[in-house]
Amino acid sequence: MDIQGLKKTLEEEFAKVNSSQELEALRIKYLGRKGVLAQYTAYIPTLQPSERAEFGKKVNEFKIFCCEILKEQVENKVSLEKSVVEQDLDPGLPSFTFEPGRLHPITQVIDEICSVFKRMGFWIVEGPEVETEYNNFTGLNISLDHPSRDAFDTFYLKSTRKLLLRSHTSPVQIRVMKEQKPPLAVIVPGRVYRPDAVDASHSFMFHQIEGFMVQEGVNFSQLKGVLEVFAKEVFGKEIKMRFRPHYFPFTEPSAEVDISCIICGGKSGDSEKKKCSVCHGKGWLEILGCGMIHPNVFKNVGYDSNKYSGFAFGMGVERIAMLKFGIDDIRLFFSNDLRFLRQF
Ligand code: DAH
Repeated sequence: MDIQGLKKTLEEEFAKVNSSQELEALRIKYLGRKGVLAQYTAYIPTLQPSERAEFGKKVNEFKIFCCEILKEQVENKVSLEKSVVEQDLDPGLPSFTFEPGRLHPITQVIDEICSVFKRMGFWIVEGPEVETEYNNFTGLNISLDHPSRDAFDTFYLKSTRKLLLRSHTSPVQIRVMKEQKPPLAVIVPGRVYRPDAVDASHSFMFHQIEGFMVQEGVNFSQLKGVLEVFAKEVFGKEIKMRFRPHYFPFTEPSAEVDISCIICGGKSGDSEKKKCSVCHGKGWLEILGCGMIHPNVFKNVGYDSNKYSGFAFGMGVERIAMLKFGIDDIRLFFSNDLRFLRQF
């Protein structure tokens, strides 16, 4: 076996290689199953025992040589192909733009509102979107004949009437109060569902933020104070608030809260001629419902209503975002149109 001669031929052949196909053909010729090396290896057992060791050593040496030269060539080939790619590359062409992602406007508003309440000591708690009928209605003192229990106003699951898609975030009051003793101050952001026909101001899914505080001696003026901090932080220091008496089954007394119109500053209410398009000349915008937690709700969670009192409130995030950003169609939040979303 002329190992030096073999090495030389191999080197010459590899030097001529121009493409990866040619390289692969040479690999098969030398290292393949029926290649040159395989043939030399098969030859070993036919030799005299005294000759085998020396021949085997040479075959091995040649094998290592083959592998090394092949590795070197593969590396050369890669850099060769790379440089071809580089030649084809036109650095004058516009590059791909990788835009950084951003938070959805609804998420931004939720984060902003939660951070205001967090600074006032509220905890953020989330609840499931699939709720029991008990937590969504019964525990909250919503009577069996209340219209919101109707299948036209709530998505029930598998017509069992035991499980539903929560229609508000208030059921988290029941969950938290059943688990924990007062004092507590909690804020609950989350998705809610109602079978409403979709239009500019309705969506079958939207977001709410519920809040509540329970402790000995909590009163309505504290509710007003907390909500005033919230409204001024989110809508600006000049904002005015008013509480209108209202009815909710889970609070007594209850109120709806309006803020002075953020577009006309409440002035359009005075002028008959030019009506503000946002408040329609009323000068006020309704932003949330609230009240003192009803004693029946406390009874349902095992709290002593003679000892504890609490307030609760609930607001729609989309409505607040629409007012804040001047958006007139709720569907824009959910149509995933980047031209809209990039503005926030
Ligand atoms: N859950 C009510 C709704 O979806 C909003 C609400 C009103 C929540 C008054 C409250 C409250 O906690 O006290 O319309």
